[in-house]
Amino acid sequence: MENNASKEVMDKLTKVCICKSITRAKIKEAIAGGAKTLEDVQKITGAGSGGCGGRRCTPKIQELLGK
Ligand code: FES
Repeated sequence: MENNASKEVMDKLTKVCICKSITRAKIKEAIAGGAKTLEDVQKITGAGSGGCGGRRCTPKIQELLGK
């Protein structure tokens, strides 16, 4: 329980997409809401449209989709 709570806090603090300031919590929310592909997640959250063109966040989003 405590472990879950701290995971949630970390999800809110961890930025998956640094360019657009998108947290891991947001990405997970999008996936829970039905996003199935990288494109879905990008469309819903705006991740991947920052200065790096998704180079930094794409692998992390794919990892979250795989879980
Ligand atoms: S980190 Fe996501 S677009 Fe740059």
